[in-house]
Amino acid sequence: MAAQGTEYAAAARRVAAGADPRSEASALVGLMTDDERRWCLDGDLPFWTGLEDLGVGGYHRRPFPAARVDRLGIPGFAFSDGPRGVVIGPATAFPVSMARGATWDLDLEERIGEAIGAELRAVGATLYGGVCVNILRHPAWGRAQETYGEDPFHVGELGAALTRGVQRHAMACVKHFAANSMENARFTVDVTVDEVALHEVYLPHFKRIVDEGVASVMSAYNAVNGEWCGQSPTLLTDILRDEWGFDGMVISDWIFGLRDAGPSVAAGLDVEMPYRMIRHAGLDAALAAGQCTDDDIAEAVTNTITTLLRFADVLAEPSPGIESLASPAHRALAREAATKAAVLLRNEAVGGRPVLPLAAEDLARVAVLGSLADVRNLGDGGSSDVWAPEVVTPFAGIRDALAGRADVVTDPGSDLDAAARLAGQADVAVVVVGYTKADEGEFIGGSGTAHLVDLMPGADDPDLEAAFRAVLAADTEPYVNPNSTAGDQLGFSKGGDRASLRLRDDDVALIGSVASANPRTIVAIVAGSAVLIDEWVDLVPAVVQSWYAGMEGGHAVADVLLGRAEPSGRLAFTVPADESHLPEFDREATEATYDQWHGYWRLARDGHRAAFPFGFGLSYTDLALSHADAAILAGEIQVTASVVNRGERPGVDVVQVYAGPVGGISRLVGFARVEVDAGQTADVDIRVALNRLARRDPTAHEWVAPQGVHRVVVARHAEDPAAVQVELDLDLG
Ligand code: BGC
Repeated sequence: MAAQGTEYAAAARRVAAGADPRSEASALVGLMTDDERRWCLDGDLPFWTGLEDLGVGGYHRRPFPAARVDRLGIPGFAFSDGPRGVVIGPATAFPVSMARGATWDLDLEERIGEAIGAELRAVGATLYGGVCVNILRHPAWGRAQETYGEDPFHVGELGAALTRGVQRHAMACVKHFAANSMENARFTVDVTVDEVALHEVYLPHFKRIVDEGVASVMSAYNAVNGEWCGQSPTLLTDILRDEWGFDGMVISDWIFGLRDAGPSVAAGLDVEMPYRMIRHAGLDAALAAGQCTDDDIAEAVTNTITTLLRFADVLAEPSPGIESLASPAHRALAREAATKAAVLLRNEAVGGRPVLPLAAEDLARVAVLGSLADVRNLGDGGSSDVWAPEVVTPFAGIRDALAGRADVVTDPGSDLDAAARLAGQADVAVVVVGYTKADEGEFIGGSGTAHLVDLMPGADDPDLEAAFRAVLAADTEPYVNPNSTAGDQLGFSKGGDRASLRLRDDDVALIGSVASANPRTIVAIVAGSAVLIDEWVDLVPAVVQSWYAGMEGGHAVADVLLGRAEPSGRLAFTVPADESHLPEFDREATEATYDQWHGYWRLARDGHRAAFPFGFGLSYTDLALSHADAAILAGEIQVTASVVNRGERPGVDVVQVYAGPVGGISRLVGFARVEVDAGQTADVDIRVALNRLARRDPTAHEWVAPQGVHRVVVARHAEDPAAVQVELDLDLG
């Protein structure tokens, strides 16, 4: 909160009374000394002190401060990461974003945002770095779990909902701008992307979240079309400021987010994070060489202070207490999200009826098997790691749900015969397999960072500097700081991009053994994105994608398997029938071309059918579209649809609207999650602004309104054979 009686506090009062935040910020910048202005250009902590703290665990102990100027009362900001919650303190670990993407539930995502915003403030942070919306171009991307899916419209809506929620309490930061869809090579790769692919596929969701009023944008590490994102005038000025009218602040990604002091300031990067590094060392020379000007510096600081003033009233609200971390209400929300996120991929009959939902009254003994059955497995171990005070594992969740009714046993399954014996003695076997943070997640070190250590300033502690250089240069064992408390280690996350899209051989072998011992075998897949399962799927009657489901994940999986909740998740990515149907992915690439073609529309273009299409998920009841129509009214496409539930249980469906020119590819332009009681019909009304169908003209560098006949497809997933198609002549609209 801003100190009273200061110039900043007076400016904040005027803004609250209606003054323009930018003019007030400019006036404050006019009152600053040169040194104060330069102070605001990077994080407030000195480099090596900060880096040591970060490397030995401080990363997740306190926020990163920046742009604080006490003389004028400017509070600066205090950054903390996400997206699966707040990474500081014993916070609520929500399911990862990819799981939340599978809920298609904007109201839920907004409520999660609100809970996260409250917890963020409770740990003393004011800026939330958890709105991660890079597009899932390929499922091997190590940080796939941090985004919502492969489709820009869907990702944008979910990210906007999170932003709305968070910004009731704090400022949100959307990242990583832009085209950051691979991990191991993120510090080096130059992504070539033409204007159409950039604006139609890699940027629309960022624009959506900017339109939502997001406070901040974090630039990406990679380069786009030869410009490092942290110093790209094209991205940071031409597109973000000039074309989109972004009025907030731009911060860099951490430590290696820019290479050159002057060009980064001139390009429109406002704050170098998290420490004084490149700018601190190079700004004098850059100014002397004319690479940036004092006006550029003033502009950057004005952007930051404008943002602080815009949020001054929100940040003046008292912080919630520390008891809001993992509070019962927030845990309930995490459970709701994990339950809604579970995607039922397969549910075949055994003994004449679908194996799921399980009837608790028929169960005397359940075996929960697999290396992930009873371990804390929340996902990435890097910047998104949330230190939840406890985690309900799948085994614990199923055991609790059947307490007093059935005997629930668990085993990691490393001895296949023993696992088969346990399965054979049980009424049902649940096999929990997939990945951990060792298989996918943030990657720092190795060849990705070895060549960057020379960007670091010289250290006052040569031993520490040498140790860091070693850690960043190789996949060595973590350095143990001899001066720190026991257990503190200097080390960073090494998950990285996935080496394979399949399960490990031992997991597949376990599934085979268990399935041969018990026909009622259910596989729960823990992963951040698509897993190819064709080599074993026919061995088992049921498969659920249960994700890194957060601290309440075990309760959620039990609720879904036992039918206490409906499986209502729908994939927000395509699971291809064959890996060759995906775009190329080279995790060591120094150059990559991102074209318009990935995801379900790539498969549509190439005539491939997915193993499990985008938008797909089964239900326990019998849902169908009973009606759908579309018309142009008042400059929008108005879609009406009805979902009928012909089964005997309540159900949830996601009505999806795809559209595109006749003869071209249709892409998602609208969706609505709808609950339908048994035997009932529910209506939905989905409005599609015509500009969602606009095309980018690469010659004029602007959007062209859609023209001619377009096909509107109302469907339950991207390959729905029962989809209803309506052709609309937009010229007549
Ligand atoms: C990640 C960002 C994160 C930042 C701060 C970087 O390595 O790429 O997503 O916000 O660290 O933790």
